[in-house]
Amino acid sequence: MTESDRATDWGGTAKAFHWLIALLIFAQIVLGWYAVHWPLTPTKIDLFVWHKSIGMLTLVLVVLRLLWRAGHPRPPYPAHMKSWEKRLAGSAHGLLYALLVAMPVSGWMLNAAANVPVRLFWAVPLPPLIGPDRALVPVLATSHVLMGWALSALIVLHVAAALHHHFVRRDRMLVRMLPRVFTRAGRAG
Ligand code: HEM
Ligand code: HEM
Repeated sequence: MTESDRATDWGGTAKAFHWLIALLIFAQIVLGWYAVHWPLTPTKIDLFVWHKSIGMLTLVLVVLRLLWRAGHPRPPYPAHMKSWEKRLAGSAHGLLYALLVAMPVSGWMLNAAANVPVRLFWAVPLPPLIGPDRALVPVLATSHVLMGWALSALIVLHVAAALHHHFVRRDRMLVRMLPRVFTRAGRAG
């Protein structure tokens, strides 16, 4: 890796936040889907406890990531990117962040509106975000599910964009977000 490569790389903190949250989001989408479709057995309750617990943990990490990001600007885009491409990438990332906050918050509100007591990781009681409200339950459930689909679609586009940069544009966009262990091999300097 050259000095100029290193200067345009995402640092270790950004990479750690990105990949940890990405992993948790993948787990959340799978867990949410399984929890909803599982037959009514004690396992269904456990799946929901995992889903709600990991969801709230993700919210904490996303808030910390946004606070960290507010003080640390992103590395510059590759020189070949046109200004509309940069705006599109910026909007997509903004929307991803918005959904990363809206998903757990809507789930938390849904849980409170439905008046379901839950202990995160079977230990910490989740305080209600709003009061019980039967009428709100279907609205919040529908929003949570639809936003889950929107997030999944956006992640597919996001991954396609990263692969396009790597294999078609052949720039360092993907490489500079990868943990260093993947980029060290084969690159001297
Ligand atoms: C990163 C955060 C989260 C993501 C990505 C996420 C995603 C999902 C997905 C994909 C589903 C299944 C939708 C379907 O196909 O029917 C779901 C369902 C559900 N989630 Fe989440 N979720 C998150 C956080 C939370 C949190 C924090 C809670 C509660 C504290 C929660 C409560 C629920 C509930 C109650 C359902 C069932 C909704 C229904 O009855 O249709 N979620 N979630
Ligand atoms: C749940 C999955 C994922 C989520 C929620 C997510 C979210 C994000 C967000 C919000 C950013 C913007 C960072 C910032 O400007 O602060 C970002 C950047 C990035 N993501 Fe992801 N990501 C996910 C999965 C992936 C995967 C699987 C790949 C690779 C195949 C990937 C590749 C990248 C790259 C290369 C960047 C940096 C782009 C740049 O330098 O401008 N992401 N991601």
